[in-house]
Amino acid sequence: MKSHQTPTRWWRLMPLALLLASHQSSFASALISRGSSTRTVDATAATPTKIAGSPPSASNNDKKKRKSRRARIKHDEKVVFFPTAARRSEDGKGWDIPIHGWIYEPETRDPARRAIVASLRKYLGLKREEEETKILKRRLGTFLVNNERRKELAVQMGCSVASGESCRVFPLPQSKKNGHFQAMLQIDDQELAAIQEATCDEKNTLHFQAIVEDGDDRVFEGMSHLIPNEGVSVISDIDDTVKITGVGNKKALLRSTFMEEFKQVPGMAELYQEWAEDLDCKFHFVSSSPWQLWEELAGFLSDIGFPHATYHLKPIRLKDRTLFDLWKCPLETKIEVIESILDSFPQRKFILVGDTGEKDPEVYGEIARRYPNQIQGLYVRNVTGETGKEERYDEAWVGVNREICHLFTEPQDIQLPASLTTSPPTNAKEALKP
Ligand SMILES: *[C@@H]1O[C@H](CO)[C@@H](O)[C@H](O)[C@H]1NC(C)=O
Repeated sequence: MKSHQTPTRWWRLMPLALLLASHQSSFASALISRGSSTRTVDATAATPTKIAGSPPSASNNDKKKRKSRRARIKHDEKVVFFPTAARRSEDGKGWDIPIHGWIYEPETRDPARRAIVASLRKYLGLKREEEETKILKRRLGTFLVNNERRKELAVQMGCSVASGESCRVFPLPQSKKNGHFQAMLQIDDQELAAIQEATCDEKNTLHFQAIVEDGDDRVFEGMSHLIPNEGVSVISDIDDTVKITGVGNKKALLRSTFMEEFKQVPGMAELYQEWAEDLDCKFHFVSSSPWQLWEELAGFLSDIGFPHATYHLKPIRLKDRTLFDLWKCPLETKIEVIESILDSFPQRKFILVGDTGEKDPEVYGEIARRYPNQIQGLYVRNVTGETGKEERYDEAWVGVNREICHLFTEPQDIQLPASLTTSPPTNAKEALKP
């Protein structure tokens, strides 16, 4: 029906790529079928456990004991922390700081995994030593890892040698089947100030590390953004909004997405930088991409100059049916994630940025209907050649103030509403004061 090519999110092809690979390799099909009867459990959607934290400056003995009860990170394991959005605690005396990480074993030598990469490489006509093969391995690699379940890690903060007093250790709940672990730490203002001094953090960030085995000098560091109660936040999509998505037939799409470096949408990084500087905006990338791509995506976006952001991606496991959640309608999944951000910061104003390619107009319309006071602007990038006068938009934006809804083609065409630009948000530093 459509006369133009609608870009497809490339990671949608992941199940296809794997099925394809499994057809060509008995190893791969064994790997995929091995876990296919597992029940679907969306581990990361579980409510994070609240943790009050260890008493400050525990004696060395105490610290040793606590440490030894926790599972150590083995030398062949890796931990990744995703940046999170911390908020003022309800009593107004401290911060609620989410921790969200992933522990896995890269497993590059497993024959089944190698078979998947090899058959996909063959299908795409790649030679082993080509640059594109490296990209393919990198992109596919994080999907083919061994997730470490039931690991109990701990994080420490402010524990540099010179500042033992501020050192705090927080045990974390067990990792789930997909290797993800989540917790909510609570730290009061006084302690936080001491920790931040030791970690050299500015007022609006907090860095921490996973505790590793003695003698392991690797550092697994994570950070949380401390976001004041008031101000302006941006919720942004990734594919087709800030990063160009390939178009074409299946094979071309697979090629462009597994073998080529990501490409940016020109002007978006500059636009977001401007908002960060002029309005002290905070950024949240909400995407239906799987968490496995976080390092690739976040690295790409930060390299091309996007401001720091928190990421909200999708939990997927290759070995069970969550894989097919990649095809789930974003109306179901994105709305829930965006609502939790809006609920965490009820006094902040929000700008929503997406594109016309998939369901952003519909998702954002629903959000604007539910949160009319918080949503100040809704901008979707025109990737479908539409005018905004189509029936689709009348439906998507029914009951929403149409003045705040816009299709845009060039990022520089975006005009923020006067309500945001004329009355600047409360100074972030003021709001951070206890
Ligand atoms: C969207 O892009 C098409 C060209 O691809 C253009 O004709 C149309 O006017 C654009 N819509 C808007 C609202 O700018």
